Amino acid sequence: MLSIVLIGSGNVAVQLAKNLQKANHVKLLQRYSRSVKNTEYFDKTIPVTNNLKKLKEADLFIIAISDDAITSVSKELQVSKGLVVHTSGNKPLNSLICKANKGVFYPVQTFSKEKEISFDQIPICIETEHTDDMDLLKYFANSMSKKVYEINSQQREKLHIAAVFANNFTNHMFAIADDICRKNNVSFDILKPLIQETAKKVKFISPKDAQTGPAVRNNLKVIENQLRQLDHNEKEIYSLITKSIIESYNS
Ligand SMILES: NC(=O)c1ccc[n+]([C@@H]2O[C@H](COP(=O)([O-])OP(=O)(O)OC[C@H]3O[C@@H](n4cnc5c(N)ncnc54)[C@H](OP(=O)(O)O)[C@@H]3O)[C@@H](O)[C@H]2O)c1
Repeated sequence: MLSIVLIGSGNVAVQLAKNLQKANHVKLLQRYSRSVKNTEYFDKTIPVTNNLKKLKEADLFIIAISDDAITSVSKELQVSKGLVVHTSGNKPLNSLICKANKGVFYPVQTFSKEKEISFDQIPICIETEHTDDMDLLKYFANSMSKKVYEINSQQREKLHIAAVFANNFTNHMFAIADDICRKNNVSFDILKPLIQETAKKVKFISPKDAQTGPAVRNNLKVIENQLRQLDHNEKEIYSLITKSIIESYNS
């Protein structure tokens, strides 16, 4: 049985805690939170502390806190045994500064505390400082998910940029689409099957082959007409993305 201490109480920590409690061969011994924020999302039976000096001994310490706080919090850890990992996509392994051995456990998914999600199918990218620790981290990752990848800090940094395009920017496009619908009294629900099919299609064909719309057809009349109807900010985004699509199909 692998013993775990979970540090943080944000989106990732909330979902990790729920999944850790369901996983086999894993025991969530304790969690640390500097504040009482989000207490309602955690099972009350998990022992909790707000003092980093009072962490229990464990096999694995998972730091799931804001990127900018990873280094300072890891420096405060007084653990010398066990493996300390962070969950960030864009922070290198050496952003952890502590006596214990270090690693990374990066779940490639979008997490919100309100939306429960199973780790089962979430790709987990792992890295350890010492090869000796890889077996333990792999064992843990495999007990959480069927999709585990060994990826180094440089690759993870690039993967995170790709994830920003694939998820964050796409979601912002949904927000713009929602706004246009609202302003024109049209239900955003009408677009939901299209959104689902867009994501589904790239499981079967490459994103490049899946592209449709006026830009890939280089239909300048439609593009100019649509540009005229947009406000300043939307126009800039529309022009930039349209230019990028046209160029990628003509190069
Ligand atoms: N959300 C995602 O979709 C996602 C996906 C993959 C990886 N990640 C990574 O997972 C990590 C956590 O992300 P998140 O989305 O869960 O963040 P989050 O919801 O913003 O929560 C951040 C947590 O960090 C704590 N914190 C911040 N500064 C601290 C400090 N100085 N000392 C102690 N605790 C501190 C906050 O405590 P308070 O509540 O007291 O402020 C909060 O519990 C990040 O490294 C992120 O890059 C996130």
